[in-house]
Amino acid sequence: MDAHNGKPATEPPPARLTVDGKHVELEVRSGSIGPNVIDVGQLYKDTGCFTYDPGFTSTANCASKITFIDGDKGELLYRGYPIEQLAENTSFLAVCYLLLYGELPTNAEFINFRRTITNHTMVHEQMTRFLTGYRRDAHPMAVMVGTVGALSAFYHDSTDINDTRQREIASHRMIAKMPTIAAMAYKYSVGHPFIYPRNDLDYTSNFMQMCFAVPCEPYIVNPVLSRALDRIFILHADHEQNASTSTVRLAGSSGANPFACVAAGIACLWGPAHGGANEAALNMLQEIGTVDRIPEYIAKAKDKSSGFRLMGFGHRVYKNYDPRAKVMQKTCHEVLDAVGSKHDPLLKVALELERIALQDDYFIDKKLYPNIDFYSGITLRAMGFPVSMFTALFAVARTVGWIAQWKEMIEDPEQRIGRPRQLYIGHPRRDFPAE
Ligand code: CMC
Repeated sequence: MDAHNGKPATEPPPARLTVDGKHVELEVRSGSIGPNVIDVGQLYKDTGCFTYDPGFTSTANCASKITFIDGDKGELLYRGYPIEQLAENTSFLAVCYLLLYGELPTNAEFINFRRTITNHTMVHEQMTRFLTGYRRDAHPMAVMVGTVGALSAFYHDSTDINDTRQREIASHRMIAKMPTIAAMAYKYSVGHPFIYPRNDLDYTSNFMQMCFAVPCEPYIVNPVLSRALDRIFILHADHEQNASTSTVRLAGSSGANPFACVAAGIACLWGPAHGGANEAALNMLQEIGTVDRIPEYIAKAKDKSSGFRLMGFGHRVYKNYDPRAKVMQKTCHEVLDAVGSKHDPLLKVALELERIALQDDYFIDKKLYPNIDFYSGITLRAMGFPVSMFTALFAVARTVGWIAQWKEMIEDPEQRIGRPRQLYIGHPRRDFPAE
């Protein structure tokens, strides 16, 4: 290993490929850990062929120093630190600093960063009027896609992506304002007045008070719940090149401003195969209702023609227990204890469903384990969040990951507009019919 850049001292030999009798050599590049990549950037020029990989199962889209996942081991590292250690020992805001700047903050750096973020927690007052233009029954994710996109209309002074300082201000603004926007979306849906941020509270306690306080009585943040939610935010903060992060990078590759890129990420996150799975998992547990109905749902999940999947199960990358799910399960127990619901019937259904699935050949053979979303719904519901807010909370936490990845992309000298190609299977050229 080269001590300076963590790369192997010698690069691996090139890969050899023969296409139509033509031999080409492709450079094989190594990262600091994880699989090597075959650089196919010249393939089309050299052979006239594209690579074909729908769903990007074998494609690395970029080089990144931020997050590493070993799906077979069930390992997740932010800037090299295991997720379990970060969840146990530090705060979400310190993790934000780590993801953005590459190192854990010193005390002085943390105080300074916290001051900067808290200075940006309010949103432009006119945004309250913008937000009240939505229907009351709008899904909070619909409100967030639109409102975060609209930030670029309110904060022109931080949309120049070629200006380092403007990029930094936009990053701080988004980390600071996302909880305010998510809380406003919630308050609007229940007909409560918006609650302004309180900068004397930590990041997560402030978010809870913006969601749950009302002007007519004092609100005391429960420290067990606030710490649990902070940990949930840490677990969701980044996850390598997942669908929404890749969306943010692709949107950003054209030079779009960061508010617009994060709005695109939120739209992608909304889907039930991605961030929407926490909502879908809780709905599924509610539908199952009692443990005696579990076998029926296991059978349905195994039957391809049913179109049903066990929500909160399976992952594109993890072929072992999702390390975030382990921390989430522990957090779930803590929260249920703290709110006096340790006999929540849904927890009983979840634990039994997990136990049965993990012993079933179908799930064993396909390496399907609980993912982060399996226990997050029960936990968030016990904290008082409605199901429709679950994915919005995911978006609050993932914003820092999107921003860190966007920033890395903008600063990457190899960065070019993302422009995939295709295998065309439509009609060949034909002439417009003559009259
Ligand atoms: N229940 C039943 N069967 C499943 C499930 C499931 N949850 N997940 C995958 N399979 C089967 C699937 O039918 C396929 O079978 P076969 O090989 O016979 O065709 C095989 O396992 C591989 O599935 P895939 O769809 O090719 O795998 P993928 O990598 O494209 O999808 C996934 C990954 C997460 C979208 C999928 O496992 C899934 O739909 N899970 C439920 C939704 C969910 O919990 N999503 C949250 C992901 S974690 C949070 C996040 O990162 O956003």
